[in-house]
Amino acid sequence: MKQPSATVADSAAIAEAAAILEQGGLVAFPTETVYGLGADAENPAAVARIYEAKGRPHDHPVIVHVAPGADLDYWTTDVPYEARQLVQAFWPGPLTLILKRHPRIPDAVSAGQDSVGMRCPSHPVAIALLRAFKGGKGGLAAPSANKFGNVSPTTAQHVRDEFGMDAHDDGALNGDDACSAAELSRVLEGGSSEVGIESTIVDMSRLATHGPVLLRPGHISAQQIADVIGMLPAAPDQAAPRASGTLESHYAPRTPVTMLAADGFAATLSQLHARGVKVALIGHGLPAALTASAHAQRVLPADPAGYAYGLYAALRDMDQTGASLILVETPPQDAAWLGVNDRLRRSVFGSAGVIAALLQK
Ligand code: TXA
Ligand code: MG
Repeated sequence: MKQPSATVADSAAIAEAAAILEQGGLVAFPTETVYGLGADAENPAAVARIYEAKGRPHDHPVIVHVAPGADLDYWTTDVPYEARQLVQAFWPGPLTLILKRHPRIPDAVSAGQDSVGMRCPSHPVAIALLRAFKGGKGGLAAPSANKFGNVSPTTAQHVRDEFGMDAHDDGALNGDDACSAAELSRVLEGGSSEVGIESTIVDMSRLATHGPVLLRPGHISAQQIADVIGMLPAAPDQAAPRASGTLESHYAPRTPVTMLAADGFAATLSQLHARGVKVALIGHGLPAALTASAHAQRVLPADPAGYAYGLYAALRDMDQTGASLILVETPPQDAAWLGVNDRLRRSVFGSAGVIAALLQK
């Protein structure tokens, strides 16, 4: 597997990508959260290609990305004052706002819902692309650039791995994934995404009746939202529109993932080791002595931002080690770690009982 290039897309690559998008093609591009798989939000056929390439069910809406200073009223209606305050405070940045959608947004983008997710990313390559595309007046519908249910990509190489593309040979076909690679013609380079987990999503579309609702926790916290609008976003109720990132199983590597608190680690690890089970560890404070018997390991920073930055690459890398189990040291449970714990909880879904099963073999 080739290493990601250290270069970042230049203006020629960005202009070319914008032209592909204007013609209805797909381009993957970096954002500060994760890489996105973009298409012209006003072109239903182009948006349909996103679903096809990802293998994503059609009832999962995609977010529309716009350039800084874009006219929200072009894309949405009845924008509440509080939503404008959030735009002012956090855009460009890792916050997606669900607002009432304008009729010009195709059904394909919003999966038929009367709302639409809007986001203005802060990554310089994303901003340059959005400014080049349709002269800065367009919008890019873009989910994370991974196959449905997989871990989101935080480097261009992750995207190429997902879609079976060769580095520096964009759009070239590479064996089995020929169909999806043919759909995705370019991946713009932008280094490692600095936030590392997907944007915070706040539903502002039913503010008068439901208040603000936190559909997906992320780098921007509920408290930071409250500090701006004076209302703390509530957890979603069952009736809230479903965000695909809120499905129980998501962000999941192929290898089963389990979480254990540090105090349970030593005993479990030595039992598994004694049975010859290969374990890949992801920790944030594990003593070296404890991890010595691991097949592979990644120690992430013990602060939530540093941990989020490294989490998806760690899951992908540990998934490649041939281990039978990825064991994650349970992170702290306080509010600052909400986004990280939310993603981890989904990546462990379906792996209950896996340790017992491996010990019985
Ligand atoms: O950080 C991010 O948000 C990344 C980057 C590429 O911008 N994008 C991303 O997109 O994570 P995606 O499609 O993987 O996740 C967006 C989530 C989905 O769970 C989707 O269901 C939800 O946003 N969503 C989009 N529009 C919605 C709407 N109108 N109502 C409720 N949920 C919505
Ligand atoms: Mg996603």
